[in-house]
Amino acid sequence: MGTASHIKTFDVYRYNPESSRNPSVDRFEVDLDDCGPMVLDALIWIKNNVDPTLTFRRSCREGICGSCGMNIDGMNWLACTRFISDTDSPSSIYPLPGLQIIKDLVPDLTHLYQQFATVAPWLQSKLPEPETERRQSIAERSQLDGLYECILCFCCSSGCPSYWWNGDRFLGPAALLQARRWLADSRDEATTERLDWLDDSFRLYRCHTILNCTRTCPKGLNPGKAIAEVKKMVVERRSQTAEVSEE
Ligand code: SF4
Ligand code: SF4
Ligand code: FES
Repeated sequence: MGTASHIKTFDVYRYNPESSRNPSVDRFEVDLDDCGPMVLDALIWIKNNVDPTLTFRRSCREGICGSCGMNIDGMNWLACTRFISDTDSPSSIYPLPGLQIIKDLVPDLTHLYQQFATVAPWLQSKLPEPETERRQSIAERSQLDGLYECILCFCCSSGCPSYWWNGDRFLGPAALLQARRWLADSRDEATTERLDWLDDSFRLYRCHTILNCTRTCPKGLNPGKAIAEVKKMVVERRSQTAEVSEE
């Protein structure tokens, strides 16, 4: 190992479903002279040099795939975009909170993906398929900014207190931001059906605007604002429906 000044200590959550041991925290000393600058580099270093059984998800290592979301020093973030130099000493690495754990730092995302599927995250059109592209103006395209960048890391849903208590029926900020992404798309023609599905006291209205989601999003997105925009669309549609029934 390098000099003592280049050793960094990480306390890492461990859970092995095939062992009768309770979950525990293992302490690892990482040689920073032999390791890249990111927390993900430190985890890979530990896996390669100390404990090959340490289990975590990763793919792109550049904040695009969304697979390395975890809790670093008490905050949900991507391990590949958090500098080791910005972490505590020792640094605490836990899996995303509020989720079932498969092994070590790997949470079970099955339910989150099922909820994501319920918002129908694809373009729905009732018109015959056009012969050329479905075009948007620059202004229409800009409506997707701040939404399309979501990488489904689920740092936000895992950090939402309301999702901890109501995650079985509340869709949570990740799925709701995706719902807003398709509601905001000028090419989509299923707005009514989408709002019908979302207008529900649990699916949408368990969001109490606590904004933990916005604080934690490692892509700098604002799920709290996206949810507020969905609520506004629901209210506007309700008032339009009421006006039509009065006529
Ligand atoms: S909104 Fe942000 S935190 Fe939530 S899933 Fe998308 S990228 Fe991750
Ligand atoms: S605003 Fe608060 S309650 Fe709503 S989704 Fe975000 S963290 Fe959860
Ligand atoms: S490894 Fe892809 S987002 Fe971190």
